[in-house]
Parts: sequence; C-alpha cells; structure tokens
Amino acid sequence: MKNILITGGAGFIGSHVVRRFVQNYPDYNIYNLDALTYAGNLENIKDIEDLPNYTFIKGDILDADFIDNLFDQHKFDGVLHLAAESHVDRSITDPLAFVKTNVIGTMNLLNAAKKLWNGNFENKLFYHISTDEVYGSLGESGLFTETTSYDPNSPYSASKAASDHFVRAYGETYGLPYVITNCSNNYGPNHFPEKLIPLFINNIIEKKPLPVYGDGNYTRDWLFVEDHAVAIDLVFHKGRNHETYNIGGFNEWKNIDLVKLLCTQMDSKLGRSAGESAKLITYVKDRPGHDLRYAIDASKINTELGWSPSVTFEQGLERTIDWYLSNEAWLKNVTSGNYQKYYEEQYKA
Ligand code: NAD
Ligand code: TYD
Repeated sequence: MKNILITGGAGFIGSHVVRRFVQNYPDYNIYNLDALTYAGNLENIKDIEDLPNYTFIKGDILDADFIDNLFDQHKFDGVLHLAAESHVDRSITDPLAFVKTNVIGTMNLLNAAKKLWNGNFENKLFYHISTDEVYGSLGESGLFTETTSYDPNSPYSASKAASDHFVRAYGETYGLPYVITNCSNNYGPNHFPEKLIPLFINNIIEKKPLPVYGDGNYTRDWLFVEDHAVAIDLVFHKGRNHETYNIGGFNEWKNIDLVKLLCTQMDSKLGRSAGESAKLITYVKDRPGHDLRYAIDASKINTELGWSPSVTFEQGLERTIDWYLSNEAWLKNVTSGNYQKYYEEQYKA
C-alpha cells in the first residue's frame, strides 16, 4: 500500500482529484487534509467517504507542528498539494491570507516531506498544483509555455508564483522529487459560486444581474475539471521528476462571449424564451490589475503523456449546468451564510 496525502480535497478541483484517486487506486491509502475554509465542502465528496482506502483529516497547513506529526504518523509516499486560497478577488482585499496559506503553508509541507524522506527519495513525489496566472497576462496573441517567464500581477498569482519557486528550490537544493503543473481556468460541478461560471449559473436561476467586469473582453482558457483530474493523475504517475507541465483546454473565450453562450444554454434548460437571461448582463467596475488574456500551450503534456481534453466546451458547460440544476440543495447550502456576506462586500458599489 502507498500512503498518499492530498491537500485541499474538499475544494473544487481537489474533490475531483480525491474521488479519482480513491476510486481508481484501491491499493493507495488516500488521506484528504483540508481546513474546511469557506471554499471547503465535505458534501463535494460524500459519495466516497465510506470507502476503506479514504480518510479525511481536518487540519490547517499553516500549523507546522501538526503537519510534521501527520507526516511522521502516516509516512506519506506522495503528496498532491492543492490546498490554497484561490480567488483573485479575495486576494485583492486580503493579500496576507494568500501569503500565509499559499506560501507558508506550502513551505510547511515541503519541510515535512524533506524531514520524513530524509534523502531517501525513491518512489517519493511532491506534486504541486499551480496556475497559469503565474505567467501574468498575454496580449492579443501568443501562448504560455513552460519556459515563459513568471510575471504575476495579482496577490493570488504572486503567492502561487512564490510557492512554485520554493518547490523548485527544494528540488534543486535538497534533491526533493517534485513536479509542478500550471493549469488554466477550470469549470465544472462543485465550483464555488463566487467564480464566474457558477456565480452566473446561480444568478441566472435566481434572475439576478450578471456582473461582467469592465468591457467583458478579457479572455480565459477554460478546462473541464474532470479533464484536469485526469491530467493530474497522469502527471503524478508518469510525469518526469523536476519538470513543469502546462495544462489547458485549447479553449479560449472572451468573458462576454462565454456569458452569452451560458445564457443561451440556460434559457433552453430552464424553458425560458431565447434572449431572456442575456438581459441580466450588467457591466460593472473592473477588477484592479485585471489580466487581459490567459492561454496555454499544452503541447508538452500532450506529446509526453498523451493527455488532451475529452470534452468540448459546449459539452462541458452543458454537463456543468445540468449538475447545478440537479443539485440545487448543494447550491442553496453554499449560497447561504458566509458566502452571502462576501457577496454583499464584493458588489456593494
Ligand atoms: P478551492 O478554493 O475550491 O479549494 C481550496 C481548498 O483548500 C478548500 O477545500 C479549502 O478548505 C482548502 N484550504 C484552504 N486553506 C487551507 C489551509 N490553510 N489548510 C488546509 N486546507 C486549506 O480551490 P480550487 O479551485 O479547487 O483550486 C485548487 C488548486 O488548484 C489551488 O492550488 C489553485 O491555485 C489551483 N488552480 C485552480 C484553478 C481554478 O480554475 N480553480 C486553475 C489552476 C490552478
Ligand atoms: P474568475 O472565475 O474569478 O477566475 P480568474 O480571475 O482566476 O480568471 O474570473 C474569470 C473571468 O471572469 C475574469 O476575467 C474575471 C471575470 N469575472 C467577471 O467579469 N465577473 C465576475 O463576477 C467574476 C467573479 C469574474
């Protein structure tokens, strides 16, 4: 048996990764460590919580002693590190929280792995899950490759960039085996409804305004979350030590075009007349330091590991909408409480 630690497994992407590993690898003991912040929700993985190779541990990666003890107790062979503060808008109002979790939290995990493995690195791996936002913003053309210089613009992307650098530094300085992946924007089931797609699905259901930042011409490269989980599985098992892989959807959308497609699909799902939801589109004040465009060149993971996305954006979006429409209890649960307070703060002006 291998003991694998997955951090942030109650969050959006982490929950899909935990499910995939628990179901596909019965010979791994999967330990899901999550602090259950506003973004963590155990309902995301309740379908697998009784499986014998799964253990949930509530805990904070900021608590270095706790992390050291956990590594000592369970003798992890591998770490998939997804726990993070992940929302750019929140990073603008509280940057320090991002430095703490994303930088210091990652350091605590690196130190614990280094201490436990103590130079015996055979069959050990520290896998750090990162974002394409570390590369900064593209103009109208070009793609991020694995050798694009880091140029982060938001406190979120700066904190993720710093954590990537520390992982690489532990690899070079102490020989720690690692891989890093930098992925584009994910979408799909269980996405917390303050990010663009789930927020707008929820607002369309409730006939509330759809707040498009600036002129809506910002561009993102969208990837269905289950395809990201497949890529993570491949990189964990077949990625080369001390390498970085970019992961993307080959799927660029201007925000306003994406929102219009979403409105069209939602009108048809909800039996509303064509054009009804698009009337909810409202242009609001822009995000400070808003990156114009992200786009990934995913040819390295494609050529080396044979990975490519399995669904088109239209298919993935339809599956996402269907999931939210048939999981209204999940949505209601999440949109009550803390989320509402955050929502009022964010959109008060
Ligand atoms: P998320 O915000 O949905 O989930 C983060 C999880 O981490 C939550 O369950 C939260 O409770 C947990 N967590 C936060 N702080 C913690 C702490 N101090 N200790 C322990 N657990 C803590 O995030 P996500 O969208 O699932 O992103 C997961 C990872 O993937 C992040 O590292 C993010 O940077 C990266 N990523 C996300 C995207 C995206 O589009 N969402 C794209 C590329 C990369
Ligand atoms: P988001 O889902 O926050 O992801 P990221 O900032 O990490 O790319 O936002 C995606 C895009 O949608 C981004 O250009 C900001 C924009 N956006 C809006 O226009 N309105 C909103 O209410 C939100 C949350 C995002």
